[in-house]
Amino acid sequence: MSPKNETIGIIGAGWVGLVTAACFAELGHRVIVLDVAPERIEQLKAGKVPIYEPGLTELLERNKERLSYTLEITDLTDDADFFFICVGTPPTYAGDADLSAVWAVIEKLPALEQRAIVVMKSTVPAGTGEKVRAALDARGLEHLGYASNPEFLAEGRAIDDFVHPDRIVVGSLEPADGERVGALYAGIDAPIVYCDVPSAEMIKLASNAFLATRISFINEIANVCEVTGADVEQVAEGMGLDRRIGPHFLHAGIGYGGSCFPKDVTALKQLAGNSGYHFQLLSSVIEVNELQKRRVIGKLEKHLGSLAGKTVAILGLTFKPDTNDMREAASIVLGSRLLAEGAVVRAWDPLAEPDSYLRGATICDSVLEAVTGADAAVIVTEWKELRELASETVRSAMRNPLIVDGRNLLDPDQVSAAGFAYECVGRPGHCSSASGPSRASEPQAE
Ligand code: NAD
Ligand code: UDX
Repeated sequence: MSPKNETIGIIGAGWVGLVTAACFAELGHRVIVLDVAPERIEQLKAGKVPIYEPGLTELLERNKERLSYTLEITDLTDDADFFFICVGTPPTYAGDADLSAVWAVIEKLPALEQRAIVVMKSTVPAGTGEKVRAALDARGLEHLGYASNPEFLAEGRAIDDFVHPDRIVVGSLEPADGERVGALYAGIDAPIVYCDVPSAEMIKLASNAFLATRISFINEIANVCEVTGADVEQVAEGMGLDRRIGPHFLHAGIGYGGSCFPKDVTALKQLAGNSGYHFQLLSSVIEVNELQKRRVIGKLEKHLGSLAGKTVAILGLTFKPDTNDMREAASIVLGSRLLAEGAVVRAWDPLAEPDSYLRGATICDSVLEAVTGADAAVIVTEWKELRELASETVRSAMRNPLIVDGRNLLDPDQVSAAGFAYECVGRPGHCSSASGPSRASEPQAE
C-alpha cells in the first residue's frame, strides 16, 4: 500500500518549520506554512528563503506545487489534518523556556470539522503537552488530537538530518494519533520511538543536555591537557574508539553556542529546579561552557599583555560553520569581553549579519581586511576559508603574527613554520604555551 499523502500545516517558518515543510513536501504531502512575520511570508511566496540552510532553497523550489505560504490561520484550519507547531521557544530572563509563541498558536486554533492533530515540534519543557491538552479541552477542542514530535536536526545539515535521522520520536496521548504522525514519515528509514508525551519531551531535552555535557567534558579535559602535556585530539580519538563512548561531540574548542544547546540545557536545569530537584551536573556544564569562551582572553593576554589599545581580529562569528545563525555564538561573548578590555575589534564572517550582536566592532568584508594591522587573529568558527590562514600574505599584513585557534582548525607545525605564534585548545605540545614564549609573547610597547 502506498503511503497516504496528507495536508500538513506548519506554524512557524524558521529553521525547523521550513526544513520540515520542504521535507514533508518532498515525501509527497501537501504543506501550508504559516508565520506571523509578513516579510517572511512575502519572501517565501517570491521564492526567497529567509534563512541560510544548504539545499533548502532548491528543495522548496522543487516542491513548490505542494507548498503554500500564508499569514492566515484559517488557510490551515480549513484544510489541514495536522498542525505542526514550529515556533521559537527562547529563554526567559529566568532561564525557563518562553512558551508565549506556543500559547499564542494554541489560543488561535478554532473548532474544526475534521479530527486534526496538533503536533509539537518546538522544544518545550516536559509537562507542556499535558497543559496544552487541558487548555484545548477547556476551549471545547477535545476533537483535536495532540502529539509531541521533537526535532533533532542540526543547522547546516538539517535536510540530511531530516531525511536520515537516527530516530523519530513520537509521543502521544492517544496511540492512534501517534501512529498517524509516525505514518507521515513513511519513506524515511529510521526507527520510530512511540512513547508518552512527557517522555518524548524529555528525550529532546536530555539528548541536547547530554551532547552539551560531552562538549563541556572534553573542553575540561583539553584544559587539563594544557597543563599536563597531553594532546586532547589524541585523547578524544583514543576515547572515541571505545564503542561505549563513541567519537561524536568530543571536539574541544571555544565552547558550544547556537539556538539550542545553551537554552535547552538551562531550560532543563530550570525545569528540574522548579520541580524541586537541583540538577547539579548541568550547572557545571553551563559554567564550564561560559568559562571556555573566556579562556581566549587569557591566551591573548599571555602574548600581548594588556589588551587595551590592541587590535584583535575575530574570524568567524556564527556559532558554527554553514549557517548564518549567530544566536549564543562564542564570538558575541569574546567580542564584548575584548571591547570591555579596551581592545579594537575587527570581525569577519562569510554569512553572518552581526549588526545587532557586536556593536563597537568593525565588520570587514574579507579575512585579509580583518587581520590587517591586527595584533592577534582568533579563529572562532571553523569556516573552510580559514584553513589557509597561516599564509605569508596574512603574516605580513598583521602587526603581530599571533593566531589563537579556538577550534583546533590549523596544523600547528605548519602555522609555526609559517612564522606565527600559535595558541590552540588542549594541544600543548604544538602550541607556544608549552614551548616557551614566542617572539610575539612579550607585551608590546604602546
Ligand atoms: P526560529 O526562530 O528560526 O523560527 C521561529 C518562527 O516562528 C519565526 O519565523 C517566527 O516569526 C515564527 N512565529 C513566532 N510566533 C508565531 C506565531 N504565533 N504563529 C506563527 N509563527 C510564529 O526558530 P527555530 O530555530 O526554527 O526553532 C523552532 C523550535 O524548534 C524551537 O523550540 C527550537 O528550540 C526547536 N529546535 C530548533 C532547532 C534548530 O537547529 N534551529 C533544532 C531542533 C529544535
Ligand atoms: C544541536 C543538536 O546537534 C541538534 O540535534 C538539535 O536539534 C539542535 O542543537 P546545532 O545547534 O545546530 O544542533 O549544532 P551542533 O552541530 O550540535 O553544534 C552545537 C554547538 O556545539 C556549536 O557551537 C559547535 O561548535 C559546538 N560543538 C559541537 C563543539 O564545540 N564540539 C563538538 O564536538 C560538537
